[in-house]
Amino acid sequence: MAHVLVVYCSLSGNTKAAAEAVAAGAEAAGAHVMVKTASEAQPEDLVNCDAVALGSYDAFGYMGGGLKDFLDRAFYPTRGRVTDKPYAAFFTHGGGGEAGRSLDSLAQVFKLTRVAPVLSIQGRPTGQAVADLEELGAKLARAASSNP
Ligand SMILES: Cc1cc2nc3c(=O)[nH]c(=O)nc-3n(C[C@H](O)[C@H](O)[C@H](O)COP(=O)(O)O)c2cc1C
Repeated sequence: MAHVLVVYCSLSGNTKAAAEAVAAGAEAAGAHVMVKTASEAQPEDLVNCDAVALGSYDAFGYMGGGLKDFLDRAFYPTRGRVTDKPYAAFFTHGGGGEAGRSLDSLAQVFKLTRVAPVLSIQGRPTGQAVADLEELGAKLARAASSNP
């Protein structure tokens, strides 16, 4: 069974709800899913999973500080140990929605393989946004189980 890790930061709950939808989609697609806040997550979590979803809110056009802190902590300890691991990213925003670029760049920096375009959600996810987040989780689960 593929192990999917969902790491997110959230101040007022929108991204937490998005993370839960990604996790539900991955679980429905047959993965074992672990959901952690960015402050709980440790670098070894990134090494030990088969695929990772990273979620944030938009903070001044960049990822939120919680996720940035996790990635800062994870960079050296995971270097060369997560190459080609499938990842997906999502973020919520208040209408600007520029944080996607910072999340997109992680593929290159960590040498992860992005399975889908970064998903951008305005505010608290409902309706189609929840369906899109669930599909993102399912896509990640499928990529995780087909990654050798
Ligand atoms: C410090 C801070 C900076 C923000 N900057 C932006 C921004 O540049 N563009 C934008 O669209 N929303 C911005 N927002 C709004 C949040 O990204 C948005 O409300 C998000 O859904 C909050 O997610 P959360 O409920 O998971 O904390 C900002 C919010 C905070 C707290």
